[in-house]
Amino acid sequence: MLAVVDRWCGGPVRSLLPRLFFDHFQGTSFVAERAGVPVGFLVGFRSQTDPAVAYVHFVAVAPEARRSGIGRQLYERFFAAASAISCRSVESITSPVNHASIAFHRRMGFAIVPGDGTYDGLPVWRDHAGPGQHRLVLRRPL
Ligand SMILES: CC(C)(COP(=O)(O)OP(=O)(O)OC[C@H]1O[C@@H](n2cnc3c(N)ncnc32)[C@H](O)[C@@H]1OP(=O)(O)O)[C@@H](O)C(=O)NCCC(=O)NCCS
Repeated sequence: MLAVVDRWCGGPVRSLLPRLFFDHFQGTSFVAERAGVPVGFLVGFRSQTDPAVAYVHFVAVAPEARRSGIGRQLYERFFAAASAISCRSVESITSPVNHASIAFHRRMGFAIVPGDGTYDGLPVWRDHAGPGQHRLVLRRPL
């Protein structure tokens, strides 16, 4: 995953994925393959703070495999895994400039949680990921 993720995401994102995610969250993380070749993955987990909440930390699909239902399948597997351990909602965050991610999450049933500011007309939590790094918080009931 680390060998391909910067290309898939069009920039340096590997630092968001230290090995601990692959070692310690396997029950709620998934790889999608086509003909034995990885074409997408999702890293998620149950919140330690609120066990009713499941959180998607990272999702990516290979550019050449997008818009064919792989992201949906990954999320649906995650929803099932989270429901099986009694989670009642799923949360994620995304950047207000990532229009594909916002559209995807909306189609997957997520609503944007009201934030403490707006960016480009969207409700965001300002400086959520560092100075100037505003983020949308997304939530979907299970
Ligand atoms: C976001 C991402 C994971 C979507 O994966 P995908 O496999 O292309 O999504 P799917 O084909 O399963 O689409 C699921 C739904 O979202 C919609 N959707 C997906 N990408 C979309 C886009 N760019 N614009 C509008 N709608 C989109 C699809 O139309 C589909 O709706 P439907 O099933 O109701 O018809 C993928 O674009 C990606 O890897 N992006 C780069 C990494 C990234 O931004 N990750 C999220 C950061 S939080």
